[in-house]
Amino acid sequence: MQKTRILVTGGAGFMGSTLVKRLVAEGADVRVLDNLWRGRLANLTDEHGRPVIDLERQFRLADLTEYSKCLELVRDVDLVYHLADVVAGIDFVFSHELFVYRQNLAINSNVLAAVLQNRVPQYVYVGTACSFPKHLQDQPGIVALREDQTYPAAPESAYGWSKLMGEYEAELGARDGQLSVGLLRLHNVYGPGATFEPGRSQVIPALIRKAIRWPEEPFVVWGDGSQYRDFVYVDDIVDALLAVPRRGMGQGVIQIGSECPTTVRELAQMIVRISGKSIEPQFDASKPSGDRGRIACCERARAILDWRPRVTLEEGLARSYAWTERAMMDAAREPG
Ligand SMILES: NC(=O)c1ccc[n+]([C@@H]2O[C@H](COP(=O)([O-])OP(=O)(O)OC[C@H]3O[C@@H](n4cnc5c(N)ncnc54)[C@H](O)[C@@H]3O)[C@@H](O)[C@H]2O)c1
Repeated sequence: MQKTRILVTGGAGFMGSTLVKRLVAEGADVRVLDNLWRGRLANLTDEHGRPVIDLERQFRLADLTEYSKCLELVRDVDLVYHLADVVAGIDFVFSHELFVYRQNLAINSNVLAAVLQNRVPQYVYVGTACSFPKHLQDQPGIVALREDQTYPAAPESAYGWSKLMGEYEAELGARDGQLSVGLLRLHNVYGPGATFEPGRSQVIPALIRKAIRWPEEPFVVWGDGSQYRDFVYVDDIVDALLAVPRRGMGQGVIQIGSECPTTVRELAQMIVRISGKSIEPQFDASKPSGDRGRIACCERARAILDWRPRVTLEEGLARSYAWTERAMMDAAREPG
């Protein structure tokens, strides 16, 4: 029997590479497209540094904002997991809004157009909780959001808008019945493989880096620490991604999160505990901290995908800390 041929865009990135490793382990025929804007080929290696795919044959360095490239490379597969987009920390996202918006619109539109033109039968897209309207995330108390609350649309950031348009365009692409579309909307994903370098990293990898480098780098937490998020471990995301083609196609948006609110202050304290150091977090309220808070309501994920998160935040943070320590040591050993 022929293996399922799967293309993962953004497959050298954090989530993409974790998905690729699982797909390879399950025996799929996997290809990866990435321009390495934030992804790294090192993400596509195992714990011994050996590539998990044949990089000559199964990896293509390509910029998906170029339609001719998409048309040439997004083809001859049974399923596309489209994970490539410009994603970064809050500082980058808010200081490069036009760039993020235009890049993501171009990437998402090109990949979907190539999928349709090349008659790829299945397309899976990942949206973000940043697409929910800002006013819903600024309410007092803990706010659990449902999938249908993204409209009327009013995301806080250009990133949130661009990802919402990616969901919308994917749904349009499914309308004539030729393409089967699966849509996940993810809350804050963390885990081994996440970018931790200053400038482009998200809150968990950034705080882990600061704890490892402390006291050379101060342990500064952006905002007053009261903002809360729904953190979900990358392996749990991969479980959901694998469940989509089996159960979640044509079902509309399915939200994925832990349903647990964690403030950034609590997060910082947990990371300090794992570090074993006597760090006193410094809160910098002058830095951007994003919306006040949001968590997912995952009824649809349970009902449709039979999905539940398996990794606790404590366990996931400990694994992420250990991975980041090793990755920072490896990076320090690299010449030049
Ligand atoms: N990390 C999160 O918390 C989170 C939450 C919700 C949704 N998402 C979505 O999940 C997907 C994966 O995110 P991630 O956290 O793994 O980020 P990531 O940055 O590690 O992965 C994205 C990949 O896309 C690649 N890319 C960017 N521009 C490209 C281009 N023009 N052409 C080809 N490749 C390009 C990057 O090099 C990177 O490898 C993204 O679509 C993101 O919007 C992420």
